[in-house]
Amino acid sequence: MKDLKIDLGADKIKIEKKKDFLTLKDYSRDEILYLLSLAADIKKEKEIFGDRLKGRNIAMLFDKHSTRTRLSFEVAIAQLGGNCINLDASSLQIKRGETIQDSARVFGRYLDGLIIRTFAHETVQVFADNSNITVINGLTDKYHPCQALSDLFTIDELGLLEKELKFAYVGDCKNVSNSLMIAFSKLGLNITIGCSPKYGPNYETLQYCYQLAEESKSRINIIDNPFEAVAGADIIYTDVWISMGDKDSEEKINELSAFQVNSKLLAYANPGVKVMHCLPAHRGQEITSEVLDGSHSAVWQQAENRLHAQKALLVYLFSENF
Ligand code: CP
Repeated sequence: MKDLKIDLGADKIKIEKKKDFLTLKDYSRDEILYLLSLAADIKKEKEIFGDRLKGRNIAMLFDKHSTRTRLSFEVAIAQLGGNCINLDASSLQIKRGETIQDSARVFGRYLDGLIIRTFAHETVQVFADNSNITVINGLTDKYHPCQALSDLFTIDELGLLEKELKFAYVGDCKNVSNSLMIAFSKLGLNITIGCSPKYGPNYETLQYCYQLAEESKSRINIIDNPFEAVAGADIIYTDVWISMGDKDSEEKINELSAFQVNSKLLAYANPGVKVMHCLPAHRGQEITSEVLDGSHSAVWQQAENRLHAQKALLVYLFSENF
């Protein structure tokens, strides 16, 4: 991490412990760096912290499909000695009208933690506000902090976590790009967003991140020309254009077509450019198979790192000695 590195010995740094992980807005630069360091230790030594979740019961409540988030959390909890309970959202009384507030109060009587994937971000906030257990956001309409944390870890592994890095996020801007912008601005890293004005970052997140970037002396560049956005980039990142639950939109696909990550776009980037995608990918839409499966792709390493980063997060949030 070069100049961003801090002395991360657990006994040497005092970090205010946070109860929930709903958005990276609630986490300091030092906490994020600490979690990245912990993830690196965990990846190197798989058995480390093997019993840190012993006796802990953590449930997962997913209103939307998931492969990586669900599976990596389930494996992570098992490897840390905890018990993971997969809740079937359709069979809970919430589906019959029991309020989230009442459900959250009950969850708090049985569980130590709850990982939620849902539509409105306000829902995870209501769960967090009405229970005394740790709530982790596994994706909402606004944020995907687990993805962004893990992506920072991948970028660090690629040896690129430094201010001079040119990181270009291209395409549709929503939860993942929101969380990446927050993370980058907190860490003082520059970020370029290549997007059509219609599908750019939302105003509220952008204003928040501009403020952070001013404090951390970093830059957020919004560029509507895809080739200019990726010119000289070390990393190009993209995400699906049509999110879960959204209808296919010909208009949106046409509007974003110039931002497809393909070999023509890559030709404008640094020759050693790495390509990231949080997956699942819509091959042939936001990214071509040629790029996804090609030598520039870091997506499988990126997917694996969800496990290591989330183990770090779980140890940090649930382990007594942290
Ligand atoms: N990137 C991501 O969150 O993957 P899943 O939707 O499969 O969990």
